[in-house]
Formats: sequence, structure tokens, C-alpha cells
Amino acid sequence: MHDFLFKNGELHCEDVKVSAIAKEVGTPFYLYSHHTLVDHFTKIQKAFATVNPLICFAMKANDNLAVLKTLADHGAGFDIVSVGELKKALKIGADPKKIVFASVGKTEEEIAYALEAGILFFNVESVHELAEINRIAKKMGKKTQAALRINPDIEATTHSHIATGTLKNKFGIDLTSTRKIFKTQKKYSHVKINGLHIHIGSQIITGAPFISAIKRVMEFLEVLKKDKITVEYLDIGGGLGIIYKDEKPQSAQDFADAVLPYLEKINLKIVMEPGRFIVGNAGIFVTKVLYLKDNGLKKFVIVDGGMNDLIRPSLYNAYHEIVPVKTNKSKPVKVDVVGPICESGDFFAKDREIPKMKKNDLLAVMSAGSYGYVMSSNYNVRCRVPEVMVREKKFAITKERETFEDLIRGEHVPAFLK
Ligand code: LLP
Repeated sequence: MHDFLFKNGELHCEDVKVSAIAKEVGTPFYLYSHHTLVDHFTKIQKAFATVNPLICFAMKANDNLAVLKTLADHGAGFDIVSVGELKKALKIGADPKKIVFASVGKTEEEIAYALEAGILFFNVESVHELAEINRIAKKMGKKTQAALRINPDIEATTHSHIATGTLKNKFGIDLTSTRKIFKTQKKYSHVKINGLHIHIGSQIITGAPFISAIKRVMEFLEVLKKDKITVEYLDIGGGLGIIYKDEKPQSAQDFADAVLPYLEKINLKIVMEPGRFIVGNAGIFVTKVLYLKDNGLKKFVIVDGGMNDLIRPSLYNAYHEIVPVKTNKSKPVKVDVVGPICESGDFFAKDREIPKMKKNDLLAVMSAGSYGYVMSSNYNVRCRVPEVMVREKKFAITKERETFEDLIRGEHVPAFLK
């Protein structure tokens, strides 16, 4: 499943001791396994081989250049949501014809940049956005393609902040409006409306919601057929769940077995946008114990990482397994693992049984490869931590720890205060 395993009482990433990396780069830091990334990507590729999908890694989950390069080298395209992400993908030499662009709020600058780069298609989220893409393309003398992101109005069982597929959410276009857009597609002289896109949410662990959404697409394709409209692409989005605690998520093969019968029938070019499935369990966050505290009611393990570095527990009450980097056989103690930030929401775990810790012990927060570093901030004037990748026996810093100078770059005290 992943390459973070204990050997001789020490947590390793592939063939490298996590403690050896900590010694060299300091704490806290994010650590990624090259092999796990490739393994997860290949698992999807193999499971879906019969429809030969274009797998566009949702780089919002992790945009580290080394991660992107690893995946591009194995044939991945990218699902982007901003011009910044597009620039990062292009920087590692990604093929623009393997890039799809979602986001409910694309700006003129972003649309123009993507048109110039020649991406495969825009995943369009409203009729006004479609008109805007057409206007800008016309002005630039470019032609492009669009997939309409439909809102299938399907409830996916996941955290409300990451469910996207119902009409209560801001995403996608309702089916009636989508049909109208197709009927009037001649208006969009510079945009070929050539696909449908769905993404119903994230960390979904069963096949049922995906099947319901795909069935809805199939019914809708029949409606379009009656209108004499055909499309070339179906982008089925991302959302595949992973194991954080004791979930039993579907494997890539289970997922493929569930949806392939439908996808094979549709006979369209399939695009997928997995993020978490590829990178979630391919990364950990390593932090060091600073202090222990017992206030009579609760015991706290205070570590040097904080909610600014990994916000998922604070934001979604998300569970991340926490393990000592060196096997520790002492009797587990119930503690809160907390950071140094001045907020009670700054925690990695609450009432969690972990072995007795002491100052300078290292802890690994598992499954932190997706929506970890990318959601970090400088809150409390804290420098972002480094990102490190291991490949077999080697490791390299793929993004350096920020410095104080990085933090205050561009910040000025105005003359009228001097
Ligand atoms: N495609 C679209 C259009 C998306 O909005 C997303 C995620 C994905 C693909 C990738 O979904 P994945 O395969 O990673 O589930 N920060 C939250 C997750 C937000 C997901 C946003 N959209 C978290 O930490 O759980």
C-alpha cells in the first residue's frame, strides 16, 4: 500500500531512515515516497486499461515539482484550477494537451494563459464562463474545447466541506441549463463543446455514488442524442478515498470493476482526476516533541509542527494516524498532540493513545501527502517547512524550508509612517 514501514525498530521511507532525514533537514518536514506515488498511479492505469483513460493528477492535492515530474514521467496529465498550477505543470514539461482546467472562478488572465498554452479543454462551470472563454478566444484568434461540468445532484457520503455534487454546492451546471447550452452551442464560435465533466466530492470510499453519477450522465447523453448532440470526452473527476484510520475504501480495481461496465458502454474518451488516491498515503509529516504537559485533566504532547503546516485535523476534524518514528514499547498514554499556534483548534489528534513520549522524540503524522503542504500557511509568522522525496536509498530536499526573508519579501512600512 505504501513505503513507510518499520525496519529494525525505525520508520523508513523506502530504504531511508526517517530519523536520518530529520537529522539532516531539521523538523518539521513533509516526506514523500517516489515508489508509492508511481505504484498508486500505475494501479489506476492498470485497473482502467480497457478504456485507456487520460489520468490527470489533481495537482491541488500536491503541487510539489518533484511529485508532478514523477507522475508526468509515468504518463500523467494534470487537472489544474489556477494559472499558478498551470505554470507549475508547464515548468516540469507537462504536455499541455494532457491538461484540463476546472474552477468556478477562472479570471481573464487565467483563461488567456491557458488558451496560449493550448490545454486539452476547460471544465466549464457556468454559462457566463463559457461566454467569457469564447470572447477571449475570439479576441486572441484561438480555438479551444470545453467540457461542461454538470451538477448531477448526487449526495456523496463525505465531509460536507468536500462534497460537491448537489445543487446546494456552487459547482457545475444543472442539467436543464446544460441542455440549453448544448442547443445553443453555435453561439460559441471559438469553443467546441465537446465533453461532460463530473466531480461529486472527495474521500468517497464506496462505488455507489460514482455509479449513480455515471448513470445520470448516461441518461443525459441519451437526452443529448435526441437533440442530435454528441461529445467526445467524459471526465469522471476524482474523489477516490484512502485509508486514514480504519476505512475500507475501494481499491483501484474495485472502483474499475464497479464503473467500467458503464464507461465501456458509453464509448467516450475517458479522463480521470484522482488526487488523494495517488499522493495521500505517499506522504507523511514529521514533527518533533518539544514539551509534555499534564494539567490534571488532560495530557498534552506539544510538537514543533502546527495547524499552519497541516490543517486537515483542525479544519475537517480529520483523523491522521500518528506513530513514533522509533519503535517505542512503553505503555500507551491518552494525549492530545498539539502544536505551538495560539488557537485551541491547533491539534493533530485528541484523546489519542500513543506510546509515552519524551522531549526530542520524532512523530510521523501519516497519510499527509494530499492537501497537506499545499494548504499550509504562514500563520503566526511561521516559515513553511521543507518537502523531501525519497527514491530507494536516496533522498533530496525538493522544496527548501522558507526563511524569514522569504516571509517579509515585498512587505513595506509606508513612507507616511516613517
Ligand atoms: N477534480 C476536481 C474538480 C476537484 O475539485 C477535486 C478536489 C479533485 C478532482 C480531486 O479530488 P481527490 O481525488 O483528491 O479527492 N482539502 C480537502 C479536499 C478538497 C478536494 C477539492 N477538490 C481535504 O483535505 O480533504
